[in-house]
Amino acid sequence: MGKNILIITGSPRKDGNSARMAETFTEAAEARGHTVSRVDASFEKVKGCMACNRCYSDGRPCVTDDGFTGIGEMIEKADAVVLCTPVYWYTFPANIKAVIDKFYALVVGQKNTEKECALIACCEEHDMTVLDGVRVPYERTVALLKWRNVGEVLIPGVLNVGDIDGTDGCAQAAALAERF
Ligand SMILES: Cc1cc2nc3c(=O)[nH]c(=O)nc-3n(C[C@H](O)[C@H](O)[C@H](O)COP(=O)(O)O)c2cc1C
Repeated sequence: MGKNILIITGSPRKDGNSARMAETFTEAAEARGHTVSRVDASFEKVKGCMACNRCYSDGRPCVTDDGFTGIGEMIEKADAVVLCTPVYWYTFPANIKAVIDKFYALVVGQKNTEKECALIACCEEHDMTVLDGVRVPYERTVALLKWRNVGEVLIPGVLNVGDIDGTDGCAQAAALAERF
């Protein structure tokens, strides 16, 4: 049966390297009968978590009525969540990090359910350990949430728009979709 997959992207570059991988992942997932929704965190207005612990107290995921109101509801409904992001300063870019911080609401509000998940990431440097800055927090986050990590696509050595075409990143992203 087709799954409801939510892909959350972290780059502001609409035609960038991670965006290209998001597109090939989406095409492959849809070809398998899944439904893919997409949130581009760079273009959402999501404030940082205020640690007020009032998540869902008024029915919404966060009492700060920002972009996470819709995103949180999309996460709740998703069978799978895919994070697709570049590395910025050895970690997640700020906008997608703000979304991830608000995953906290799922825990406080007891709205978390079993999900599958995956990570797609890229960076300029050729050193694979640079990708640890997103891989390690991703793995620990999904372990805490008890989501099942179905796979990771980690592509180093891409800087400019189009560099991804010189790698097997898009092929790996399409292959990742086969695992859902
Ligand atoms: C603000 C900023 C910070 C970055 N920090 C890093 C970094 O710490 N390590 C790295 O290897 N690349 C870094 N990069 C390069 C991006 O990860 C790289 O260009 C990537 O391919 C961008 O993906 P995108 O095209 O999907 O946006 C940075 C880029 C920007 C704009």
